[in-house]
Amino acid sequence: MPNSIIINKKINKFKKTITVSGDKSLSIRWVLLSSLANGLSKAKNLLMSDDVMAAINAVKKLGIKVKFDEKICKVYGKGLDGYIFKKNITIDAKNSGTLGRLILGLLINTPIPVRIIGDNSLSKRDFRRVSDPLSKFGAKFKLKKNKNLPLIIKGNSNLKAIKYKELRGSAQCKSAVIFAGMRANGTTIIKAKKSRNHTELLLKYLKLPISLKKKKKFDEIKINKVKNIKSFNYKIPSDISSSSFFIALTALNNSSKLIIKNVNINPSRIGVITIFKKMGISINFKNYKTYKGEKNADVVVKSPKIIKAINCPTKLNTSAIDEFLIIFLVAAKADGISFFKNLSELDQKESPRLQWGNKILNKMGIKTVLTKDSIKIYGNPNLNIKKKIEIKKYLKDHRVFMTSVIAGLSFGGNWVIHDRDSIKTSFPNFLKIINNLKTKW
Ligand code: S3P
Repeated sequence: MPNSIIINKKINKFKKTITVSGDKSLSIRWVLLSSLANGLSKAKNLLMSDDVMAAINAVKKLGIKVKFDEKICKVYGKGLDGYIFKKNITIDAKNSGTLGRLILGLLINTPIPVRIIGDNSLSKRDFRRVSDPLSKFGAKFKLKKNKNLPLIIKGNSNLKAIKYKELRGSAQCKSAVIFAGMRANGTTIIKAKKSRNHTELLLKYLKLPISLKKKKKFDEIKINKVKNIKSFNYKIPSDISSSSFFIALTALNNSSKLIIKNVNINPSRIGVITIFKKMGISINFKNYKTYKGEKNADVVVKSPKIIKAINCPTKLNTSAIDEFLIIFLVAAKADGISFFKNLSELDQKESPRLQWGNKILNKMGIKTVLTKDSIKIYGNPNLNIKKKIEIKKYLKDHRVFMTSVIAGLSFGGNWVIHDRDSIKTSFPNFLKIINNLKTKW
């Protein structure tokens, strides 16, 4: 299999300092917002992955110049009305739900219809969850089967502010509505179940007319029409989701230690850290920094003697939503039965991840009980896989691939994992860092 990888040896203990790639959510948001700013914005450490390149190509299609100078990405914004493009354009969001959904907020006033397409995985995902609230502003949508991509958006020049309740904990829906609210007349009021708040923090940093009120379970966001976005530079911190694979690798190994430099530890993103700590893994933050409203720090992880089982509190679900595959894998080595519930959103991701998490564990010989929104995992601290395991046809979900690699390196067995190109979506140098950890210390 030309595009597959074979893992047939456990990794040795390691003690290293690594840097993982830039945060995906922040990279895409920076590209989109800077494309509407006035003048030149520059980003350092922008994630160079397919999802982010798709965002760059999208704004280029809308008439915005983007250049790379050494490792700096330069976006030449032309202001809020700077998108100038021909009829019949198609934007390819590829694998990126974030791009596909957020860009709809920016196109809410487009007089020329724009078609949005995506890859096989994105084309299966729910776009009604954004087209419904965005229609209320006055934009028109046509979706395949009333729900999916391809879709066509035609905007409206006289948008009216809306009231919107976001109940899923989807930052993509929330952000699309915030972006649309920036162009509507009046005050858009959002009551949103807590989810990652990078969009809000960026808008606040840019001194745009947004106000935030934190309630116990919900955030209340108010956004008014924006007159002008000033250009802005950004140094993207490392991605906690990418880091979590290496945190897990350290947790599943003996006598290892890892420092991951300058990771974004926004409280709305670090459910994985809270969960791993509850499972007995030693994780500390060092060199705290606040950068443009975001919190960043070095993450220090040490292998635990024993991994504890967890009855995972559902209040942590949203802040760990992208990390459950790797959390399930860590639960496979726990001393006891772990339980994760209310996770129907997991099956709305790049692949049906609750199903895939379960499938990987079963292939490894771990007993599970799966329902449509929960999983019980019967951990085995002495698991030592001897058989061949093949992982394929998983809709090229980058996180299924990376979880499988960590499984092979931690539990043994003879793994054949297809579609290694899937990592280009979020973490192109994942395998390079793995190889680096394999070198003797
Ligand atoms: C993201 C939000 C989450 C997450 C995705 C990135 C974002 O999706 O799973 O990987 O950058 O806003 P949902 O909004 O669908 O939960």
